[in-house]
Amino acid sequence: MSRVVVVGSFNVDHVWSTDTLPQPGETLGGRYTTGPGGKGFNQAVACARSGARTTFVCALGDDPGGRLARALAADDGIDLRALDSTEPTGTAGIYVDGEGRNSIVIGAGANAALSPGHVDAQRDAFDDARVVLAQLESPTEAIAAALRTARARGAVALLNPAPANAPTTRELLALAEVTTPNETEFAGLVSRHVGERLDGDAVASLDQPHLHALCRDLLPAGTVVVTLGASGCFVSHADDALRGDDKAFYRLGAEQVRVVDSTGAGDAFNGALAAAIADAPDAAFAGHLQFASRYAALSTEREGAALAMPRREEVAARFGG
Ligand code: RIB
Ligand code: NA
Repeated sequence: MSRVVVVGSFNVDHVWSTDTLPQPGETLGGRYTTGPGGKGFNQAVACARSGARTTFVCALGDDPGGRLARALAADDGIDLRALDSTEPTGTAGIYVDGEGRNSIVIGAGANAALSPGHVDAQRDAFDDARVVLAQLESPTEAIAAALRTARARGAVALLNPAPANAPTTRELLALAEVTTPNETEFAGLVSRHVGERLDGDAVASLDQPHLHALCRDLLPAGTVVVTLGASGCFVSHADDALRGDDKAFYRLGAEQVRVVDSTGAGDAFNGALAAAIADAPDAAFAGHLQFASRYAALSTEREGAALAMPRREEVAARFGG
């Protein structure tokens, strides 16, 4: 099995399910559940369940949430490398509506303590990693350190630039070889760094050459995958780095599923994509995307984030392949 290093957040998710998302000033009755989450941990679980040997680098508090993370990582065979913080373990408040859509507020807690020094100290894990996967729920200096180390060791540096309001610079983005914004994140990045005003809702209807041009401007030397929820994704490669594909840009549809809870669907996609690339680095990128997209679709049919991640065999059983 080839190795993936995931660097990022762990949160205890507090989830309320209601028919509609609450409006300002509104009080609603809902159903409460709690479970493990955090974009980093969700992606690490997705990666491990997709079949990759997975290391997860994070920061945890000395509390029940931190112990939950350690126990669950062990259950999934994840090699956990946690910095011990005096802050409480990260939390997220999540509302899920009757159509499986969500609103999330994060309390970073211990995640804010993740440091470049702690990332650098995991050198042995980076040494034989084929892919390094990071998100932006942790301090950008730590994420930059992870992506730089990936590049120095010849691993594919994969950046999921989520959440949408995370601070980004062009320098940080340029450290990634592959980046995977959703439509909201893509619109934000284009508005901030390319200088074209773009609305998240408009992204899926832009024509492909236009999307390609925006992606090329955002990450000139790398691959951009814009995830479009139920509409699939759009892929744009640099001309001289097609990653085994025969086209520089294309759209890929998504499987139609009955969405129960889309929380962590992006994480499912990223973790599965990282595992697929690590498993067959020279195979066509489109094949990796198809696996990731099916994996993510299946994750939305289940409640919860990390615990909703399917196993590789379940994806094959459901969609074939
Ligand atoms: O991407 C979903 C995740 O975002 C949740 O698990 C929550 O913890 C937040 O990090
Ligand atoms: Na889910």
